[in-house]
Amino acid sequence: MDAILRTLDGVDPRGRRALVRVDFNVPMADRAVADDTRLRAALPTIQRLRRGGARVILMAHFDRPKGKRVTAMSLAPVVAPLSALLGAPVAFAEDCVGEATGREVAALADGDVLLLENLRFHPGEEANDPAFAAALARNGDLYIDDAFSAAHRAHASTEAITHLLPSYAGEAMRRELEALDTALGNPRRPVLGVVGGSKVSTKLDLLRNLILKLDALAIGGGMANTFLFAQGREVGVSFCEKDLAGEARAVMAFAAEHRCELLLPIDVVVAGRAGSGDGARVRRPGEVGGDERILDAGPATVEALNRAIDAAATLVWNGPLGVFETPPFDAATSAAARHAAHLARSGKLIAVAGGGDTVAALRHAGVLDDFTFVSTAGGAFLEWMEGKTLPGVAALQDRAGEGKP
Ligand code: 3PG
Repeated sequence: MDAILRTLDGVDPRGRRALVRVDFNVPMADRAVADDTRLRAALPTIQRLRRGGARVILMAHFDRPKGKRVTAMSLAPVVAPLSALLGAPVAFAEDCVGEATGREVAALADGDVLLLENLRFHPGEEANDPAFAAALARNGDLYIDDAFSAAHRAHASTEAITHLLPSYAGEAMRRELEALDTALGNPRRPVLGVVGGSKVSTKLDLLRNLILKLDALAIGGGMANTFLFAQGREVGVSFCEKDLAGEARAVMAFAAEHRCELLLPIDVVVAGRAGSGDGARVRRPGEVGGDERILDAGPATVEALNRAIDAAATLVWNGPLGVFETPPFDAATSAAARHAAHLARSGKLIAVAGGGDTVAALRHAGVLDDFTFVSTAGGAFLEWMEGKTLPGVAALQDRAGEGKP
C-alpha cells in the first residue's frame, strides 16, 4: 500500500471525547437485534478506547429513514445487547446532535460509553453537509472510523467530519483493510476469484477489475447463464440477461487478453419451470431443455473448481454458485465452500469472502469461521473489489511522506 492508514497506535485518548463511527445497521426482527455480528466487530475499538480512558461516543446509521425521524428505525434496540457484550452500561442519546446531546456528552466520565440516535434522521448526514458534520464534531476531540461497511458512502459521519477532527481507523477497519490487501492488494499467487450471484449487470466493473488482478476467475450463479447463452448455449427458462450477451463476450475476450483463466460451468443442475427440488437433474451445457431452469452448478463443475482451489494460494469469493437457499440447489456452493474452508484451516489457502449473500451462503455451509477472513460489508466490499476508492477509507489515509494532521 502506498497509502498509510492512520491508526490509534501512539494516540493517547485519556480524558478525550472519542467520536466513533460504527456500523450498527444490523438485521432486526420485532425491534430486536437478530444478528449481532456487527456489534461484536465494534468491541475491540470500544474496549481499547475505554481502557485508554476515553469517553466513547458511538455514531451509527440504521436503515434508510431519508432524513426524517422514523421510530421504527431507532437505534435504541441496540443498547441492551451492546451493553451485554461490553459488560458495561451504554447510555443512549435520543438525537445525534443538539444541546441535549451535548449535555449528555458533557456528563460522561472517562471510560463511559454513549450511543447516539440514528444519524440518518438528519438529511445532512447523507448530503455530507459540512454544517451537520460540524454539529457532530462539537461532541468530539478525535474521530475514529470503524465502519468499513459504510466507507463507500461519502456522508457527514464518514467523510466531512474527517476535515474537522484528527481522524483515525479503528481496529475493525484496520483488520478489514489488512485482510483485503492480503487478498487483492499484495496477494500470494496464484489468486483465484469466485464470483456468483444472479446479475452480470451489477458486476461488470467488478469482473473487469478482477480479471486485471487474478490468475483465474470462476463464474457461477445466475450470471453464469448469461455467459453460457453468450456462447450460444440453450439456457431454457433460466434467469439470463440476454441483452448482455455482447458484454459477456467482451468480458471473455478481456480475460483472454489479460491471461486470466475463466472457469464457466461445465455442467449444471436444472429443474422444471417451477424450479422445485423434485426432479432436479444434471445437464451438460447444450443439453438444457427449453422448459428447464438452471439452479445450480453441477458436480463436474464443483470438481473442476475444487482443483482450481487446490492450485490457488489465495481465494477471493463473492456470490453463491446456485440458489443455495433452496436445497438441493445449495450443493455446489456448500461443497466448494467446504473444500476452501478445509484448505484455509490447514493453512494452505488464504480464503477471503464478502458480500451479504456470500456470508449467508458460508454460514449455511457451516464454514463461516473457517475462512481466513469474511467481510460483512455488502456494497463497500463490492466497490472495493471493483477497485474503487472508498471515500471513508481515503479520508483515513496519508500518502507516503505526508504527516498526521
Ligand atoms: C450496509 O449495511 O451495507 C451498510 O450499513 C451501508 O448501508 P446503506 O447501503 O444503507 O448505505
